[in-house]
Amino acid sequence: MKNGVLILDFGSQYTKLIARRVRELKVYSEIMPFNVNIEKIKNFQPGAIILSGGPSSVYGEKSPKIKPEILELGIPILGICYGLQLIAYLFKMKVAPAKNREYGFANLEIVRRSRLLKNVKNNSKVWMSHGDKISQYPEDFIVTGKTKNTEITVIESNKRNIFGVQFHPEVIHTKEGKKIIYNFLFEISNLKSDWDMENFIKSSITKIKKKVGTQKIMLGLSGGVDSTVLALLLRKSIGNQLIPVFIDTGLLRKNEYKDLMDKFKNQLNLNVHGVDASKIFLKNLKKIRSPERKRKIIGKTFIDTFRSVEEKIGKVNFFAQGTLYPDVIESNSVSGPSVKIKSHHNVGGLPKNIEWKIIEPFRELFKDEVREIGKDLGLSEIFINRHPFPGPGLAVRIIGEIREDKVKKLQSADEILIEELNNFKIYNKVWQAFVVLLPVKSVGVMGDIRTYENVAVIRIVESIDGMTADWYPAPYDFLKKVANRIVNEVKGINRVTYDLTSKPPGTIEWE
Ligand code: XMP
Repeated sequence: MKNGVLILDFGSQYTKLIARRVRELKVYSEIMPFNVNIEKIKNFQPGAIILSGGPSSVYGEKSPKIKPEILELGIPILGICYGLQLIAYLFKMKVAPAKNREYGFANLEIVRRSRLLKNVKNNSKVWMSHGDKISQYPEDFIVTGKTKNTEITVIESNKRNIFGVQFHPEVIHTKEGKKIIYNFLFEISNLKSDWDMENFIKSSITKIKKKVGTQKIMLGLSGGVDSTVLALLLRKSIGNQLIPVFIDTGLLRKNEYKDLMDKFKNQLNLNVHGVDASKIFLKNLKKIRSPERKRKIIGKTFIDTFRSVEEKIGKVNFFAQGTLYPDVIESNSVSGPSVKIKSHHNVGGLPKNIEWKIIEPFRELFKDEVREIGKDLGLSEIFINRHPFPGPGLAVRIIGEIREDKVKKLQSADEILIEELNNFKIYNKVWQAFVVLLPVKSVGVMGDIRTYENVAVIRIVESIDGMTADWYPAPYDFLKKVANRIVNEVKGINRVTYDLTSKPPGTIEWE
């Protein structure tokens, strides 16, 4: 069986967008680093391969290359930007620095009608971002598109089943980009449009049943949408062999533990084991300041707590997590050229010596796909639209040492923010919103009295999948209300600021 599209990553900021575009057309896609073993490619059995863009020049000494064998597999290949230049290079053609680096819009002139450019409007806008360009194209290829600055913009070889575009069809700025990807998938590669969430649910249930048999799975619930949807999927697969556990780390939002326990039991009929481990978490985190150490300690404390549940209920064989594709990319760096940013406790922060087999059915999914599964499984909007909440919770929002009094301060400020987001009907418009507590004090004056208290930061971001994010241009009256309320109602905070950093260069959480 053909397995969708394999995307080989050469380090472009747009690689994940390619995966999303392909999946939007209901074809499964997966990203692998450019230097993945050819056996792994063969095992994956891709129906098509896309070579991503990347920041390098093919002539650079350390520039990422693939074995020419990959071009001989007979699998349709589309090279994008660097991917196109690499194809030309591997066929021993010339790639040279362009006189002017081309960055931004260009008009695509169609020189010849072809399968790749079927129904693509002539002179449509395309998005360019390259320093090199190819000055000679390989034998067996024809040029089907050009722009004012780039004579060889689209090349195609029907004989070899290899295609290349200099621009980025995956970004929305390329008006006809989706059509070009459509043509590559369906006109050229004859792929089927059969990747949807209903199919995913059916095939996951079969896989989970087969893998787990009569054994038990423990699942850590966080209250976020991913682990909640996973609980429903696992329950549907294995019924009461599922042991859902919700731990009070003492680092949850205000009243969250009680509220969620109630919702899990009464709304979702989940047989949840609740554990109050707040004292242990706070004790283990005492005097710890380093973000990575916090994450590692939290990961270990989670596992110790899960083990204590196992001691009570008997042997567990599997441990399930709601890890998503972006977590895998960011934490494990599946994409060769990218670096590890954070040990997400879901992935990198777990101790190595866990005795359970890990099961992560959402490892290949984006968050909007998980939300769709949630809807299909009948989860209510309140759960579906909840903002993501990181496993380490408020620990990564209290900069520096964590103490109970600081947690209380942050919880109170955060409660005000969430209340006002709902009052101003902003909550469902943004990806995530929270308050960060700084270990910095500033001078203020309240009722003629000098104050010297902590600074809090409001962080609100818009995002599609958490991989990139923009700070949210919040309305002034909303900001004014929140800041006013926090300073007036939360003892110990006398100044509020707004975070104006996008991701990149920032990350969403502060630690
Ligand atoms: P960053 O801060 O890396 O966050 O830009 C991206 C998204 O991931 C969430 N996040 C986490 N989720 N465990 C989780 O389950 C973690 O350790 C973790 N760290 C960050 C973050 O809230 C944002 O939505």
